[in-house]
Amino acid sequence: MDELLTDARRRDETDELSGFRDRFWIPHGRDGEQAYFCGHSLGLQPKAAESAVRDELSTWRERAVGGHFEGDPAWMHLSEYLSERLAEFTGALPGEVVVMNTLTVNLHLMMVSFFRPSDQRRKILIEKNAFPSDRYAVVSQLKFHGLDPARNLVEFEAQRDGLIDEESIEAWLAEHGREVALVLWPGVQYISGQAFDLRRIATAARKAGARIGFDLAHAAGNLPLSLHDSGCDFACWCNYKYLNGGPGAVAGCFVHQRHHGASLPRFEGWWGNDEDSRFRMADTFSPAAGAAAWQQSTPPILSMAPLKASLELFREAGMERLRAKSVAMTAWLQQEVESRFHRTLQIITPSEPRRRGCQLSLRVRDGREYGRSLFRFLERRGVICDWREPDVIRVAPVPLYNRYEDIFRLISSIHDWCESERSSC
Ligand SMILES: Cc1ncc(COP(=O)(O)O)c(C=O)c1O
Repeated sequence: MDELLTDARRRDETDELSGFRDRFWIPHGRDGEQAYFCGHSLGLQPKAAESAVRDELSTWRERAVGGHFEGDPAWMHLSEYLSERLAEFTGALPGEVVVMNTLTVNLHLMMVSFFRPSDQRRKILIEKNAFPSDRYAVVSQLKFHGLDPARNLVEFEAQRDGLIDEESIEAWLAEHGREVALVLWPGVQYISGQAFDLRRIATAARKAGARIGFDLAHAAGNLPLSLHDSGCDFACWCNYKYLNGGPGAVAGCFVHQRHHGASLPRFEGWWGNDEDSRFRMADTFSPAAGAAAWQQSTPPILSMAPLKASLELFREAGMERLRAKSVAMTAWLQQEVESRFHRTLQIITPSEPRRRGCQLSLRVRDGREYGRSLFRFLERRGVICDWREPDVIRVAPVPLYNRYEDIFRLISSIHDWCESERSSC
């Protein structure tokens, strides 16, 4: 293990992004800093988040209602400011992204506009292992339209090891797509860590005449995205995972430019009204340009402040450099797991970098009991991963704050567990 530690330290020393770690609070356990691999669930706190929130509290204390109009940016324009930053990282045009609500709420709002079943087309296609909230949302949307979920929800089965090839989605849509009103698909599958070719899926859905939306909870801030060019109708994501916006942070939502100004049904509120006429308090709604028209309420400024701090870091680091580091870190983790623990752990995440983000999902070959034992052992060592029933440990090395030395701690802890529990790897 000494050689591995030397290798990890050498990699950290030559990492041009290593300085960003100091701009985050690294959680501590009993024995010091944790090796934190849970950015797929909750990103770490940027140190600048606290002052960003304090600044807004001071503005509220000192200027009260004036904060809506004075400041950099004034509260009135904070949502617009964040939306523009997020559009940069998601490959969207500026007016295509809006920061509002939370992920599941936005999925519902998008489905109000983009799930419009007809006699011929009533089905929603999701993947079999979709995140439960997405499933609940589509089932309740079907019921809301008076449709039976048992007949109208199609759950696409994974082919092998929980993975799904894009070709099989294309083939299925070519054959059955005429009955599908909406496809809701993940950017990165939350259990397997598989990343999908969004453009291919969007193209296949649109060719079949269906609407297509993406849940990018595990893709935003993790992978470079080209939302506009993908051609999807909408996309939603949370900002508390890889985007480090804090627990329950205000979410992001994309609506493709071709729908701006179109007469789509929409649940409306005064904040979606065009800013120039919003305060005239007219009886009729005049939509803001672009995705901003889907806003409903006064933006939650205190929830937006940490996101503002985090997006500054992303801007400084640059998505391209982050992705390059991420690919290298995850490849190193893969190589060490495969070469040392292939009898104990199976990596279910695809091995090609283009088919995954930073996460690797490790299936414990001997099942749940061993898996839980390993997971608890790692926790006691301050190596924080995530457990998915029945037998998967999800590990996400995040390029903004993880070090190669964190990966070394994971590998050496798995090694020690194997030695103590199983007397071999
Ligand atoms: C893939 C995915 N979709 C939806 C959600 C639900 O997000 P929220 O609770 O912010 O609505 C999550 C939460 O972790 C998720 O991982």
